[in-house]
Amino acid sequence: MSLEFRALERELTFDEVSYRFCIHSGPDAWRDLARKLVALEADRFLVVADGGLAQPAVREVATCIGDVAPVVPLPVVTNESAKNLATIDALAERAITAGATRRSVVIALGGGLAGNVAGLLAALLYRGVRLVHLPTTLLAMSDSVLSLKQAVNSRYGKNHLGTFHPPALVWNQLDFLDSLPAASIRSALCETIKNVLGIVPERYDELAGRLRPDARYSKAELTELIELCVAAKCHVMRHDSTEKHEALVLEYGHTVGHAIELVSQGRVPHGFAIGLGLLVAARVSVDLGQLDRADEAAHRRLLELNGAPVVMPDGLDLDAVMDAVRLDNKRGYLPHTEGKCDMVLLDALGRPHRTGESLMTQVDEDVIRSAIQSVFAADPAAVVA
Ligand SMILES: NC(=O)c1ccc[n+]([C@@H]2O[C@H](COP(=O)([O-])OP(=O)(O)OC[C@H]3O[C@@H](n4cnc5c(N)ncnc54)[C@H](O)[C@@H]3O)[C@@H](O)[C@H]2O)c1
Ligand SMILES: [Zn+2]
Repeated sequence: MSLEFRALERELTFDEVSYRFCIHSGPDAWRDLARKLVALEADRFLVVADGGLAQPAVREVATCIGDVAPVVPLPVVTNESAKNLATIDALAERAITAGATRRSVVIALGGGLAGNVAGLLAALLYRGVRLVHLPTTLLAMSDSVLSLKQAVNSRYGKNHLGTFHPPALVWNQLDFLDSLPAASIRSALCETIKNVLGIVPERYDELAGRLRPDARYSKAELTELIELCVAAKCHVMRHDSTEKHEALVLEYGHTVGHAIELVSQGRVPHGFAIGLGLLVAARVSVDLGQLDRADEAAHRRLLELNGAPVVMPDGLDLDAVMDAVRLDNKRGYLPHTEGKCDMVLLDALGRPHRTGESLMTQVDEDVIRSAIQSVFAADPAAVVA
């Protein structure tokens, strides 16, 4: 049955934080956005724009925003190695010299990377100015804008330097997704898969029936997939806006996933890296006697239905991956034990393993290393030991 697209607006609440989350499509929607921006009474819009966006798309947004208040363009290079404090510093200097004040509003126009850079800039500028997300990738729409976390990388790891800063508004204009490569849609859907495996397994069959390797989804289907992520994230973040307790399950697959993303220097995009990280986390859970093989197989099935990679990219250095795992930003929820790394694991689909009250589990480095090797053993060129 084909679904019909319907615009959607709802208020999301995480602890004391609330913001409007809107999904729209079509040229008329820009007028609705302009009305919402007028209500912010901004003196300027500091537009942190993803440098990889097509110019006509940027111009369309700039026209809409520029009709409301003057625009200060702040282009950002979308490259993990540019997602750092030096970039934030340079953008802040440009914003300040262009006249930014506390009444200015930072607009994040781009994928998750531009969103994080804009988010941290908004958090730091004058100790916090308002932030509006205009996400342009499915990953940003369905995942990163739903998190209040704003961080950039250090030289030693992903998202080491950051804070929390909520948006005043999230505006998902689905038309942006028309220009996204299929791989980017598949990569984003790895996070949707993570949400189903870790939080809402009762929606497993629905997602399995929806996923297609060609990644061609109607706007109504994309809305449904975004909604699925909203439901899952709201479920665990409603009383855990800083993602330190129940919402830590959102980090499932992220310990090894972040390491793969970092070591591959962005060659493996975030979602695909998390997909690979999910397979490793499931294998570790099985090896520790927590998860059964059928639940592990359920991970691979969804990734394959999505057309996501289930083998490591050629030549990824396993020692470098393990070095990055050791410096993962989730260290410290549990007291450190030499030779162990902290991971989110599952006892069953939708049931994270607990150490006392915590969702983190300390795992021997050797167990992680051998899980990586055994998951990807089918591809002999996959990991360089
Ligand atoms: N804050 C959080 O909780 C959170 C959650 C998930 C991911 N992230 C971060 O988000 C980043 C990944 O985000 P992403 O997957 O959106 O990738 P991205 O922001 O790195 O963008 C990927 C590529 O897509 C291009 N692009 C963006 N919009 C496009 C469009 N409409 N059409 C065509 N190309 C377009 C960009 O120019 C870039 O080349 C990572 O840095 C990750 O750490 C943060
Ligand atoms: Zn993620």
